[in-house]
Amino acid sequence: MANVGDPAATPTQAAGAAVASPAKPAPKPAPPKAKPAAEEVSPSTKMRRRIVWSCVTGFLGANLLMFLRFFFPRALFEPSTVFNIGYPSDYQPGVDERFKASDRIWVVREGDRIFVIFARCTHLGCTPDWKPAEHKFKCPCHGSGYTPEGINFEGPAPRPMDRAHVELDATGQIVVDTSRLFSWPKGGVDQFNDPGSYINV
Ligand code: FES
Repeated sequence: MANVGDPAATPTQAAGAAVASPAKPAPKPAPPKAKPAAEEVSPSTKMRRRIVWSCVTGFLGANLLMFLRFFFPRALFEPSTVFNIGYPSDYQPGVDERFKASDRIWVVREGDRIFVIFARCTHLGCTPDWKPAEHKFKCPCHGSGYTPEGINFEGPAPRPMDRAHVELDATGQIVVDTSRLFSWPKGGVDQFNDPGSYINV
């Protein structure tokens, strides 16, 4: 039998000897490359980024608010045009101002009637003042004057002030409706004697 070191050994015998030799240790994997150090960011770049993000955030926030606003109705909550002003016996002859600030009306008792004047000047819509000493209504805007019945007699007002619908409810109290007005247009028909424009007392 031929030995490995024997020069007479055939190539096949040499190959068999090589397979039998102990395996070389596998090469160790190369250690992972160290990550590159974080890029240095200059203060001016940081500031620029902050500004850009602020703008983007602000823009998105504004859009979000506008989007949410869409879901809320733009309703105006105005006082009711129909309201109760008490009993006829609560009113003395003359002009009563107790509802002017809250409901823009004067309650007038005259003779056997109570009627309600809507406190709006027929010139350009200002609210006149009641002048007890002068016994008249006077508009502070352009000087129109009205009698205690609301009839215009001086200044640019073209017609009397309107009157609101009045009626008695089941308890005998006066109910006013300022959405239903009676007027006396210039050269037109006087509605101040129509049913609902006054109540008898
Ligand atoms: S608005 Fe009253 S006089 Fe002009």
